[in-house]
Amino acid sequence: MAIEAFFVPNVSLMGAGCLSSLAERVQMLNGKKPLLVADGGMTQLGYTARIVKLLEEADIPCAVYDGTVPNPTDHNVEEGIAIYRSEGCDMLISLGGGSAHDCCKGIGILATNGGNIQDYEGLDQLTQALPPYIAINTTAGTASEMTRFTIITNSSNHVKMAIVDWRVTPDVAINDPELMVDMPPSLTAATGMDALTHAVEAYVSTAATPITDACALQAISLIGQYLRKAVARGDDMEARDKMAYAEYLAGMAFNNASLGHVHAMSHQLGGFYNLPHGVCNALLLPHVCRVNLMARTERFADIAVALGEVTEGLSERDAAYMAIDAIEELSHDVGIPQSLSELGVKEEDIPTMVGNAQKDVCALTNPRKLTDDEVAAIYLAAL
Ligand SMILES: [Fe+2]
Repeated sequence: MAIEAFFVPNVSLMGAGCLSSLAERVQMLNGKKPLLVADGGMTQLGYTARIVKLLEEADIPCAVYDGTVPNPTDHNVEEGIAIYRSEGCDMLISLGGGSAHDCCKGIGILATNGGNIQDYEGLDQLTQALPPYIAINTTAGTASEMTRFTIITNSSNHVKMAIVDWRVTPDVAINDPELMVDMPPSLTAATGMDALTHAVEAYVSTAATPITDACALQAISLIGQYLRKAVARGDDMEARDKMAYAEYLAGMAFNNASLGHVHAMSHQLGGFYNLPHGVCNALLLPHVCRVNLMARTERFADIAVALGEVTEGLSERDAAYMAIDAIEELSHDVGIPQSLSELGVKEEDIPTMVGNAQKDVCALTNPRKLTDDEVAAIYLAAL
């Protein structure tokens, strides 16, 4: 039997109000001066100032880098590490959704490993642990606050680099649903569909294990029950709380079972056109599921059940197709755009994106080996 490893943060805080433990956790990690990494949106909404104040109240000074952009780049990492060094920081805190966490992980990699971020692309290329690191999550989607994945766009060729290393896993993940209530419906929908994609891809991955299966199915079930409610009313705290658990569970699943061609292909859309990650995944997910269905028919039938579909009396194949219908219905209900062309994707760019998608680390665990032509056909079908 193959040896399976399972990666999660040392401590994960869940539940409304858990942000109040931040300063205590900084002290437990012996942090004297953290660098707080956020994006401009967090600062505009007052969240960055709120974190600085929480730290100040515990006599913890901090430096701030809030220049992170969506689909963060190598330039963001370079700007952040310059501040980390000039301010004499000794630990990291990230605040936001995927972008701030990924940028912060990049900064942490350079803080202790040196060199350029491009040096660490691939699996387990680091030699040194990151500085102590707390990730505060504000969306229910990427799960970057608890994973070993770091996605940074290489600005020279617009390709998203995947740095996958157990050493980048945050020491503490904070998932406080009170920080998620201000998310607008469109962001709630896109991030929620990203979480669903994590769970579905992990469940049908070639690297799935009984542990990741349990996480993935529970995540799918919670998303099926609560994503519409969270989109319909952002202040529905039960829905926000359950979606926070769902995205974390989906993170546990894909952090260990990895992903598939939805992510391999959506990374190219993000890198090429700077499109929102969750929307790209949501658009590609049903098309990739349709192509993968023959490889994992029984598992797609399980997904239909987890999404609340009644499959009794149906053949396995018909039940499996119900999963795809249910995913499309959910995506439609929460207002995801229904074609890539609406987002400005051009047919002439497909061959380049196919080449890069086939090299993406996520393609390795797709349940079906896909040819370049098959990948191109999926992009075309979603166009
Ligand atoms: Fe994702």
